[in-house]
Amino acid sequence: MDRIIILDFGGQTTQLIARRIREFGVYSEIISGTENIENVDKSGLKGIIFSGSPYSVYDEEAPKPDSSVYTLGVPILGICYGLQLMTTHFGGTVQNMEHKEFGRAPVTFEQNLGLFRDVASGFQSWMSHGDSIETPGKGFTIAARSENHPAVLVNRELNLYGLQFHPEVTHCDYGSKILENFVAGICGAEKNWNMDEYISQEIDKIRTTVGNRDILVLISGGVDSTVTGALLLKALPPERIFLMYIDTGLMRKNETEEVKEILLTLEAKNIQIVDASSDFLGALKGIEDPEKKRAVIGDLFIKVQENYLPSQIGNDYFLAQGTLYTDMIESGKGVGEKAKVIKSHHNVRSPLVEKKRETGLIIEPLSMLFKDEVRKLGLALGLKNEFVYRHPFPGPGLGVRILGEVTEEKCRILKEADALFINELKNRNLYNKIWQAFCVLLPLKSVGVAGDDRRYGYILAMRAINSIDGMTADVYPFKTTDLLEISSVITNTIPEVGRVVYDVSSKPPATIEWE
Ligand code: XMP
Repeated sequence: MDRIIILDFGGQTTQLIARRIREFGVYSEIISGTENIENVDKSGLKGIIFSGSPYSVYDEEAPKPDSSVYTLGVPILGICYGLQLMTTHFGGTVQNMEHKEFGRAPVTFEQNLGLFRDVASGFQSWMSHGDSIETPGKGFTIAARSENHPAVLVNRELNLYGLQFHPEVTHCDYGSKILENFVAGICGAEKNWNMDEYISQEIDKIRTTVGNRDILVLISGGVDSTVTGALLLKALPPERIFLMYIDTGLMRKNETEEVKEILLTLEAKNIQIVDASSDFLGALKGIEDPEKKRAVIGDLFIKVQENYLPSQIGNDYFLAQGTLYTDMIESGKGVGEKAKVIKSHHNVRSPLVEKKRETGLIIEPLSMLFKDEVRKLGLALGLKNEFVYRHPFPGPGLGVRILGEVTEEKCRILKEADALFINELKNRNLYNKIWQAFCVLLPLKSVGVAGDDRRYGYILAMRAINSIDGMTADVYPFKTTDLLEISSVITNTIPEVGRVVYDVSSKPPATIEWE
């Protein structure tokens, strides 16, 4: 398969470059910007892209590529910092600007380039830079300018290109087109990346890696781990695949039953459902601090995993995880050493996982996929639309949606309320228009009336947001009538809830979850 490699120097939007390229059907992969080029798999390699970076090229710690990248003979496109790296490598200079150029800026062409095919001169680019090209590197000429600065540079002889703007950002007009002109036009990469291709490639890889060992898959109830299980079941005899699901009691209503049903339809042979709900509730007793709750849930999860390992599983079994590309990047594993560690999911860093990783007995068949690609894979493997497009659910489950101490009663109330809310969204055809929706139970009661009596009931918050990747979020703008009707359904059905509020905070400054 033809491939484009992106060298990551820690830019905020590096992942988007890979996404845009995959969107038009070419496989692209992100690796550390400072990787030794000798160790890079060059099969099918058609071109290289240098990402942006929070660094300035003259910073002492500025990450630089292995200079042999310039001798590979494939076209290179530098984006922002990537352009500046090329410039200084070829003896040009970069200057720090007094005023950062940020946001939309028109770009006017000064040369005809394949890169500009079907792109209109004067288009609005998206800039985000504090440094600018002062003198181009040897062999480079300016091919386009924004109002004040060189915007596109080219070295025709060596097939090197540089953009001062960010074509990967959706606000950049013609951004995808420019990337496509580079990847398909200049690099000549074939658009042959699709799910069927991926499935057959991964099945081969899984068979070679796992050999005749057993494999344990920890099923969380979410899309990623279930798709992992489904893919493995296509690749290996089902007798060798052990699927383990831990019911923490902090799952959504009916979740355990639904997961079991899905696994059975996938013809899994070894399904182990561990009911650890009383252990989790016991461990959470009296704990109010959100971070402590997360830690207790994470630790217990690992303990239960280890205590309930299937007895028939062979020694030196493989562990399979539904780790996504974004998880790898966010937890600083696998890609650019300069990429910041944003959060560490417990499924990436638990001791069991670390031990398996150290011994090479871990397999993560989704680790090169983005969430929407995992959904497509799930559908291709026969999972239902309804399941594949379920809203995300956090690892610690309702534990972080019951503010303060978690009790059995509060779990029951929240499960019911959340199920009603989601059901209402589905009935109103809103569920698929919203990225994530859920309820939060507050540790507060307020006064209400029931008949002639005063009554204290819990306060329940509804949250519904839209987002691309969970990093930022906008509040879903419900019609007022929907909010009022849904609120009535909840208070009429669940007597313990006395009042419903709607959370109207975006992220930032609020996070999506409340704890
Ligand atoms: P926040 O609350 O950080 O959430 O804005 C962003 C997205 O991540 C989910 N989330 C988690 N997912 N383990 C997970 O697997 C966690 O500990 C966790 N915390 C938050 C959240 O539901 C949202 O989609």
